[in-house]
Amino acid sequence: MAIPVELIKDFAASKCPQLARWGESLAATCQSRTAGSNHAELWHKWMTVLDRLPPPESGSLDASGDTIVIANHNHAVVDSQADEIRETVLELSPWRIGPWHFFEVDLQAEWNSFRKWNRIKDAGWFDGARVLDVGCNNGYFGWKVIDAGAQSVVGCDPFLLYNVQHEMFRRYSADKSRHHILPIADHEIPSGLAAFDIAMSLGALIHRRSPIDHLMLLHSSLRKRGQLVLETMAIDSGDCNLIVPENRYLKMRGVWFVPTIGMLKRWLKRTGFEEIRIVDVSPSKPAEQHRTEFMTFESLSDFLDPTDPTLTIEGYPAPMRVAITAVKRLF
Ligand SMILES: C[S@@+](CC[C@H](N)C(=O)[O-])C[C@H]1O[C@@H](n2cnc3c(N)ncnc32)[C@H](O)[C@@H]1O
Repeated sequence: MAIPVELIKDFAASKCPQLARWGESLAATCQSRTAGSNHAELWHKWMTVLDRLPPPESGSLDASGDTIVIANHNHAVVDSQADEIRETVLELSPWRIGPWHFFEVDLQAEWNSFRKWNRIKDAGWFDGARVLDVGCNNGYFGWKVIDAGAQSVVGCDPFLLYNVQHEMFRRYSADKSRHHILPIADHEIPSGLAAFDIAMSLGALIHRRSPIDHLMLLHSSLRKRGQLVLETMAIDSGDCNLIVPENRYLKMRGVWFVPTIGMLKRWLKRTGFEEIRIVDVSPSKPAEQHRTEFMTFESLSDFLDPTDPTLTIEGYPAPMRVAITAVKRLF
């Protein structure tokens, strides 16, 4: 997993010189994540967990429904193994996005991510597209995008646990060569790639210290007239404004800016996007984000004012979930 050899080969063979150049340094970058990082030891432990799971030929991945299913081929896994698989999967907690059905285990993640998918799926030009998914977590959306007809998906997420979770499913997919995740952060994607038809940033913008740099990076990853699919928390107002939380927002330390929808549009215009379309504005709801057996930390209902769900626990306006598409402007 740590070194997505196939992807690097594809990049090296790519007619796009920027991708070919990136391919030259990518192996070393991935290697340094698992050999030199603080998480290296944990990464080895997590990878060993995968060895205890059913072999690739026992299952197949089906992403056509709300729950992504790893089906049990020819009853390769019998009921008596289900408890063991559940315990093994729990070792890779927390599970943030899903849901999944993994052999006989109903793997409920914190997010019912199909709700987000259902809000964006008809707005993205996914058919035949080469897609970049920044902040992809375990890759749930990548499989949905492939099911919607995308040619390939490259995800990136610097947290190795989520890369391992992705690998847990990828091995069962007939499309495994079309969906890779790199263990890197957004700022490690080279500027000026101009290689992807779609750049997705779902639930990631709000956590960036520099949202403008994040948007510029997404812009520069896109080919001419490529499409941005952006989903984020925002305040439901057309005014150009933002909250800079004094301390935490929804108990999160790393939230520096919460923009209004008006401010988001301005950021997008300034960073080189046009045809900006607000696809959906929906409230955050516990039906979409909640604590489960596979994610036992606090979740949405702990983050909102219990007496007034229009406010965060800190007293700020509660965010809406906003989905936006935009097109890379030609300068
Ligand atoms: C709130 S989650 C969103 C996950 C998923 N895209 C979704 O919409 O449900 C944010 C993700 O961004 C990842 N992340 C954090 N810092 C990042 C960075 N600098 N570059 C890329 N991803 C990052 C986190 O590990 C996490 O998986």
